[in-house]
Amino acid sequence: MATKTTENNTTSSSAEKKMQVDNANVNEKEMKDAPLHKFFVDALKDIYYAEHKLVDALQTMHDAATTEELKDAFEDHQLQTKKHISRLDKVFKLIDETPEQKKCEAMDGLIKEGEEIIKSTEEGTMTRDAALIIAAQKVEHYEIASYGGLAQLAITMGHDKAADLLEKILQEEEDTDYNLTEIAETSINFDAEQED
Ligand SMILES: [Fe+2]
Ligand SMILES: [Fe+2]
Repeated sequence: MATKTTENNTTSSSAEKKMQVDNANVNEKEMKDAPLHKFFVDALKDIYYAEHKLVDALQTMHDAATTEELKDAFEDHQLQTKKHISRLDKVFKLIDETPEQKKCEAMDGLIKEGEEIIKSTEEGTMTRDAALIIAAQKVEHYEIASYGGLAQLAITMGHDKAADLLEKILQEEEDTDYNLTEIAETSINFDAEQED
C-alpha cells in the first residue's frame, strides 16, 4: 500500500512538474503582458537612459564647479551613477527583460537647465556653485521619485531581488541630495551672497 502510494506520487509528480512548467510559461507570458509590468519596464528604460546621460552631465558640472568639496561630490556621484547603471542591468536581467534606453524628456530638460546655469553664471564664482547645487538636486529629486516608485512597484509585483537593488540606488540618491544640501549650507550659499 505504502509502495503503491509512492509510485502514484512519483507518476503524478512528474506529470505535475510538466504542468508546473507549462503553468510557469503561461504565468510568465501573462506577467509580461500585464499593463503594470509593461509600465514598470518602460519606467526602468526611462531611468536607464537618464543615468547614462548623467554620467556626462556630472562631468560637465564637475568641470564647471569651483569649490573642491563640490567637485569631489560630483565626482563621487559620477562613480555611483555608473554603479546605478550596472545595478539596473541586473534588475532587467532579474525580470527577464533586455536593458534598453528610452528617451527621458524630463532628464534632458533638467540637464539643459544645468547647462543654462553654466552659461549664465561666471566661472570661479560661488553663485555658480550655489546654482549648480540646486540644478544637481533637481536631478536627484527626479531620481528619488523614480526609484522610490519603482522599488514599491517591484515589491508589489513580487520582484524582491529587483526591489532590493532599486532601494540601494534610492538610498544613494537620497544621501547625495542630503550631502549637497550640507555643502550649500556650510559655506557656498553664504559666500555667494557676498558676491556682487
Ligand atoms: Fe543614479
Ligand atoms: Fe543621482
